[in-house]
Amino acid sequence: MKHKRESGSREVGLKIGWICGEYFLKLKHLHYGYWTEGLQVDISNLGRAQEEYVKFLLSHIPKGVKAVLDVGCGAGRVAQKLLSEGYAVDCVSPSVFLTEQTRKSVGDKSEIFECRYEELETEKRYDLIIFVESFQYIDLPTALANTSRFLNAGGHMLVCDIFKKSGQEKGRQSGGHDLDKLSKLVETSAFSLVEDIDITEQTAPTIDLLNDALEKVGKPVAESITDFLADRYPTVFKLLSWKYQDELEKINKKYSGGSRTGEQFKQFKSYRLLLYKKTRG
Ligand SMILES: C[S@@+](CC[C@H](N)C(=O)[O-])C[C@H]1O[C@@H](n2cnc3c(N)ncnc32)[C@H](O)[C@@H]1O
Repeated sequence: MKHKRESGSREVGLKIGWICGEYFLKLKHLHYGYWTEGLQVDISNLGRAQEEYVKFLLSHIPKGVKAVLDVGCGAGRVAQKLLSEGYAVDCVSPSVFLTEQTRKSVGDKSEIFECRYEELETEKRYDLIIFVESFQYIDLPTALANTSRFLNAGGHMLVCDIFKKSGQEKGRQSGGHDLDKLSKLVETSAFSLVEDIDITEQTAPTIDLLNDALEKVGKPVAESITDFLADRYPTVFKLLSWKYQDELEKINKKYSGGSRTGEQFKQFKSYRLLLYKKTRG
């Protein structure tokens, strides 16, 4: 089969994350772990913590839901779990690679819309639309407008994701919509808030584990590759370093030591489960 190229640095990052996580740690998901009391914070337990996350998520699905749309479905493992629980599930996946994984997970039981949520067009309507750590990537006003459009009357939107704490300086960890901005937009939308649960404490340890893996594995591997290239192809290396100096500086700043700790995460971010009901429109 012809190799299809992934476009965009985010999708490439998710692809690498999935390949490494699945191969080395047998992970099934691309979301954070939910560290329950007694579960030791250790990389070998990340898979279990991710399963705890799914358990927690599923326990907040409202009664009466039959048809679900999983937006930004990753490798389709949450969709697979939902199918096994008797829900009808469709998926939205803009990533070529993750769509292939999702097909393996759901077979022909689900329709996979291969596009960004912002571009989705369908006549289908759902009782529940879920965003499992994918809401942060989607344009906020469009996310609310599309979700209202694709939900049945009285349907629900379930978001489990990272948000920026309102009124905080910009932290060094990127990602997440601003919580205040979301609340204001919801006021004038079709939705009413049903549940708002802060799970920052339970998810933050994941950051320390990822930071540790980056320091002990990611950085030394990247340094060895750059040292080899600088030694073997000095002219090309100098030229590329100069051409991409801004991008390289950004990457270096983002991943420099101490900038991505669980404590920093708690200071600047809030990980929330938010359940909304469509009450208008
Ligand atoms: C961190 S992963 C989470 C994946 C999955 N929900 C899980 O829990 O394992 C983010 C997901 O959002 C998807 N995504 C990114 N931008 C998107 C967009 N504009 N519309 C829909 N999905 C998007 C990615 O392809 C990926 O599947």
